[in-house]
Amino acid sequence: MVLIFVCLLLPCFVLSSEHNLTIDEDFEIEKQLKLLNKPAIKTIVENEDIFDCVDINKQPAFDHPSLKDHQIQLRPSSLPVGLFDNDMIKSSSRIKSMEVGLHESCPSGTVPIKRVEKEQLIGMRSSFKQYKIRPSSSSNVNDDASTTQRWATIHTPYKPYHQFWYYGASGLMGIYGFPGMQDTQFSSSGFWIANDDDLGHINHIVVGWAVDPKYNGDKNSRLMAGWTCDDFKSTGCMNNACPGFVQVSKDTPLGIAISPVSTYNGTQRDIELFVFRDPTTLNWWFLCGPDKKLVGYWPNDLFTTLAQYGTRLEFGGTAEYIGNSVFPPMGSGHFPYEGYSKSCLFQKVKYIDGDSRSDDLPLLEGTPRSDSPCYKAGDFTGSDNANNYFYFGGPGGIDC
Ligand SMILES: *[C@@H]1O[C@H](CO)[C@@H](O)[C@H](O)[C@H]1NC(C)=O
Ligand SMILES: *[C@@H]1O[C@H](CO)[C@@H](O)[C@H](O)[C@H]1NC(C)=O
Repeated sequence: MVLIFVCLLLPCFVLSSEHNLTIDEDFEIEKQLKLLNKPAIKTIVENEDIFDCVDINKQPAFDHPSLKDHQIQLRPSSLPVGLFDNDMIKSSSRIKSMEVGLHESCPSGTVPIKRVEKEQLIGMRSSFKQYKIRPSSSSNVNDDASTTQRWATIHTPYKPYHQFWYYGASGLMGIYGFPGMQDTQFSSSGFWIANDDDLGHINHIVVGWAVDPKYNGDKNSRLMAGWTCDDFKSTGCMNNACPGFVQVSKDTPLGIAISPVSTYNGTQRDIELFVFRDPTTLNWWFLCGPDKKLVGYWPNDLFTTLAQYGTRLEFGGTAEYIGNSVFPPMGSGHFPYEGYSKSCLFQKVKYIDGDSRSDDLPLLEGTPRSDSPCYKAGDFTGSDNANNYFYFGGPGGIDC
């Protein structure tokens, strides 16, 4: 009897002293892990990453209370008009959109889900506002005095001067790596679609790439995507840390490492990402790469205000640190004035309107904004026969 008691308690005791978790917290985390990591039909290991091929109909998304009776959608009812157009006319040698994907696909009927490790869930309790990437326009960005997050972005006009509804966005952004980044730093580039019509229900979707050693246990640049329907107060998360996103791609999981990356003054590599609301099912689709590969979607039922449309778009980067650290590099780690192949280029900045048409974001509708001397967003510029673009980022440092 005594022996059993010790054996049962020992693992808990060891873990709780190692991570300073109480027995209750440890139990909660174990429960969550079990829920997130579904039984694998096959496991794919790439580099050090583990991807479980799980039954597409039993993936973690369907544990979300709003998705109990969700009818899975395997492809969009239609694609936005103009999504594939202009590319031929406007393509230039500067555009090298990378394919992202596992070398091996999951078997038919299954989808890859990056396995969530216990360390990640523990790390999320303390790191980076629990790994929730808000746009700079978030109303409660500064509600937490301990936060040290900065942005360099272009954003669409603020209300009440601007009444326009967005049904999607896309962009082609440079991707870089930060091998020297510290475990206490976080850097990410991408874009947000937000609806803050109702301040109690600020909804956003964010997609891009991120370097997040604390969460990932390494310094790889990874595909990231997140959602919330209350500005991350109690709903939503990044990647597969909570139920919500429905994975349909058999070879492009959220959180996949992207390599190789661009080199300063050398070969530039970009990823093109697309998000749009399906005009029929109203689900928000996420596509990636030159072939517009379907990654998956956020069911409409997850949202309140975004269930209808977005009111604001924001494109660029964000950087953060915790504890005794300094701000990390953002973009390429170099300021916009350095220009092509040195600063991070964000181009083909597009939006999707209520008629499901994809079009270039007009130059007058992208205002640069940065809230720190350590990062800048350059002018949003372009011409009729070239893609619109801007540069963003900076080195980070102490006095940011
Ligand atoms: C656990 O708590 C002790 C004392 O509060 C602290 O020194 C230690 O760094 C903590 N360990 C971890 C892993 O957080
Ligand atoms: C960039 O590369 C060019 C050609 O390789 C070289 O001449 C130049 O000095 C480099 N500039 C910087 C800032 O590294």
